[in-house]
Amino acid sequence: DVCGTCHINATCEDKADGTGKVCNCKYGFVGNGRTYCQKDECQIGAQKICGQHTTCHNTHGSYYCTCLSGYSPSNSMAVFIPNDGTHCQIDECRVAGLCGDGAQCRNLEGSYECSCLPGYRVHGGTEPFQPHRENASCRVIDCSQPAPAEATVLLSVTGTMHGSVAMFSCEQGFVWTGGDNSSVCDADGRWTEPGLVCETLCGNPPVLELTERVWNSDSTPGSTVHYYCKEGFYHTGGLNVSVCNKDGQWSLPTLSCQVDCGGPPPIPHSVILWYNFSTVGSRVVYRCNSGYRNVGEGNMSVCTAKCGPVPVLANSEVVWHNRSVVIHRCLRGFHSWRGSNVSMCSHSGLWQKATLRCIKKPPITELLVLHEKCVHWNAEKYEEDTQSYKQVTYMGSRDFQKSFHDKGKRFLSSKAEQVGLCLNLLPVTNYSISITALSARFTATISTCTSLPPPAPLVFYREFDSLVPTLRLRRLANTLDPISLYQVFVLPIEGLMMFDCSDRSGNIKSPGHITALIDVRHVGAELNFTVGDGLFYGGFFNAPLKNGRNYYIILRAVSQWKT
Ligand SMILES: *[C@@H]1O[C@H](CO)[C@@H](O)[C@H](O)[C@H]1NC(C)=O
Ligand SMILES: *[C@@H]1O[C@H](CO)[C@@H](O)[C@H](O)[C@H]1NC(C)=O
Ligand SMILES: *[C@@H]1O[C@H](CO)[C@@H](O)[C@H](O)[C@H]1NC(C)=O
Ligand SMILES: *[C@@H]1O[C@H](CO)[C@@H](O)[C@H](O)[C@H]1NC(C)=O
Ligand SMILES: *[C@@H]1O[C@H](CO)[C@@H](O)[C@H](O)[C@H]1NC(C)=O
Repeated sequence: DVCGTCHINATCEDKADGTGKVCNCKYGFVGNGRTYCQKDECQIGAQKICGQHTTCHNTHGSYYCTCLSGYSPSNSMAVFIPNDGTHCQIDECRVAGLCGDGAQCRNLEGSYECSCLPGYRVHGGTEPFQPHRENASCRVIDCSQPAPAEATVLLSVTGTMHGSVAMFSCEQGFVWTGGDNSSVCDADGRWTEPGLVCETLCGNPPVLELTERVWNSDSTPGSTVHYYCKEGFYHTGGLNVSVCNKDGQWSLPTLSCQVDCGGPPPIPHSVILWYNFSTVGSRVVYRCNSGYRNVGEGNMSVCTAKCGPVPVLANSEVVWHNRSVVIHRCLRGFHSWRGSNVSMCSHSGLWQKATLRCIKKPPITELLVLHEKCVHWNAEKYEEDTQSYKQVTYMGSRDFQKSFHDKGKRFLSSKAEQVGLCLNLLPVTNYSISITALSARFTATISTCTSLPPPAPLVFYREFDSLVPTLRLRRLANTLDPISLYQVFVLPIEGLMMFDCSDRSGNIKSPGHITALIDVRHVGAELNFTVGDGLFYGGFFNAPLKNGRNYYIILRAVSQWKT
């Protein structure tokens, strides 16, 4: 009698084939039905015992729960028993690519958040973000190529990503006097300032008449030279030091040295009345010894200083002079090369000659601008110049945009006779470009007007989800605002259509298709333009769109200056 042996928590049932009876454990129990019927918690139902979005797993005498795919337990473990409040929550982070490239996802109670991985930076929002809600995303940090500062050159760069390092050094002819020689691409996508300070070498210190100098041949900024008067002269005042300053120039020593007449000449049979001064203008009176009388002329000797005839400089003429000052000028057809144009009679009685040099050719010739961006010239060099330093300054202005100024300064040193330098000149701008030969203190200037380039100024646009198509226009710097406009064309799709974006006459002048005309200068940094909002833009009707029709929406940026 099988039924008599059934477990208390089993029921006796007919066999399916009708050949007898069997003991089956009751619902909620598992076992052999006769000696063993164990309670199975999971039979109670996963939802009841484990909670929502779970699977229940039975074990000997107990059970455990796991979360369904797409969910994760709130205790962050692989399995759980809900007796401590653990439950399954949706895990958005398991959706591949939810946060986008370069982002990491963090699951939150009923939500999630994204943040950028190292080397990436958030765009279009702030961290933490949800890309579906905020349009934010992570982009790889790219500092782009670093630009060397004045008088520096880029030695090496490890890349343009976050943490990349660029090394700089001073241009030839300049010395490193301070600051750091490296720059790092930071988390904001900018290169840190290398701060490298490069200064020009001063070259040879000035020569001062009647003096000797003590110099250790160092011509880096901060070096000094000491001057002292030559034998036969003595120091009457002024500064006896010259310092190499950071502009690469020695400061002028102002030391003046006077003649020292020494002891007066002796005259036989006479005594001298002398106060022991032997500077210019000092006097000595002679008196004959007793028993002698004066048979000559005068009884006095004066310590004098006479400069004599005016000094002559090559290729120059004298403009004006008196006995102590001479002003020189280069002859016609010659250019002053360097130095002062004044000769002065010094206390020592010698001309302190003008240092002016007059040379036939100017140091910069045949200055021209090529391809609206590169300046070229011929550099004349003279014996003592092994290298010549040039300063290039440029300044741009626009008639149609008074607030616009584009200024810049570049240094270069070169031994070449033909020099070229390319500048980043902006379009539709009048530029004045000056080249200064620093050692010669000569400046040549050229003007040029850049043209309006064929490609229109850059525009970013983006269409985002809304009931009506909306263009989000974001404006870049230098969009030639006052002479630029946006045109929006809305064209129903009817078979094959031709639209020539570069066609200036046709579509601008057949406004039949234009829906809106927007002055770029009224856009500000950003503009949301909703197609078909029924308003007028620049005199054009932004007509509502018809339901169920397909349209092309074309945005064109146009710049026009004069013709
Ligand atoms: C049979 O089930 C009841 C209630 O589910 C339980 O109280 C009892 O202990 C079970 N008996 C045995 C022998 O397992
Ligand atoms: C950069 O500076 C460091 C010390 O500040 C120096 O050791 C290193 O040689 C410099 N690198 C170059 C390329 O000049
Ligand atoms: C010469 O001219 C200079 C400058 O005008 C003046 O200072 C100086 O006294 C003049 N010297 C003589 C000797 O006339
Ligand atoms: C450049 O200067 C010329 C002459 O003054 C002027 O006619 C022209 O409009 C200027 N161009 C710009 C872009 O300012
Ligand atoms: C354009 O729309 C976007 C998305 O709705 C918004 O974030 C932005 O602030 C809007 N810009 C302007 C200028 O209204």
